Amino acid sequence: MRLDKLLANMGYGTRKEVKKLLKTGIVRIDEEVSKDPKQHVDPEVNIVTVHDEPVEYREYIYLMMNKPGGVISATEDEDETVIDLLIPEDQVFEPFPVGRLDKDTEGLLVITNDGKLAHHLTSPKHHVPKTYFARVSGMVSEEDVEAFRKGVTLDDGYVTKPGELNIIEEGETSQIELTIHEGKFHQVKRMFEAVGKKVVYLQRIQMGELLLDRNLEPGEYRELTEDEVAFLQK
Ligand code: URA
Repeated sequence: MRLDKLLANMGYGTRKEVKKLLKTGIVRIDEEVSKDPKQHVDPEVNIVTVHDEPVEYREYIYLMMNKPGGVISATEDEDETVIDLLIPEDQVFEPFPVGRLDKDTEGLLVITNDGKLAHHLTSPKHHVPKTYFARVSGMVSEEDVEAFRKGVTLDDGYVTKPGELNIIEEGETSQIELTIHEGKFHQVKRMFEAVGKKVVYLQRIQMGELLLDRNLEPGEYRELTEDEVAFLQK
């Protein structure tokens, strides 16, 4: 890859800023000063230093965000996106959200630039389970648990795969957890509509074995640990 791309990707500024940095002569490739932004480097082989500090190259970034309501899970939109919430040093990796949460949905969102992992998590072939916490207007009953277990018919005639519904609190507004193994558009909301109820708050709390980190306030994010990335690759 080009030297300027490597340095820009590693947070040393825009390509223009990197060009200026190179002119100062503080960047070395295998001990030799390089001022050429176009110079080819192989991060696996060459040692690049800035001010004698080695540049640790990484290709992928893996983030967990507690998505807040009111923000779009896309890379670009007229409205604020989850990518807008990242610091510039993370944005340089050009990450994107894995799958979509509705604008008003909160909770666990993986953001990465690893297309292979994203595909694994979203491909219908892999059936990665996703668990949601919801507050639902109306009395959620054992009948609903049974209906979700069998599969319910959505407004477009699609019959859902079995979902596991747990009632946490039954009342005028009920609290539930629901695990589904597919990801149709507005699926959780539409499943409740299919049984005559309305989701008034929705939060994703788990994807595969990855749990939402409860220390993250809505809008906050952190890097996934190596173990967490490994969970997701399973
Ligand atoms: N189901 C929904 O209805 N909305 C989401 O954001 C995710 C799942």
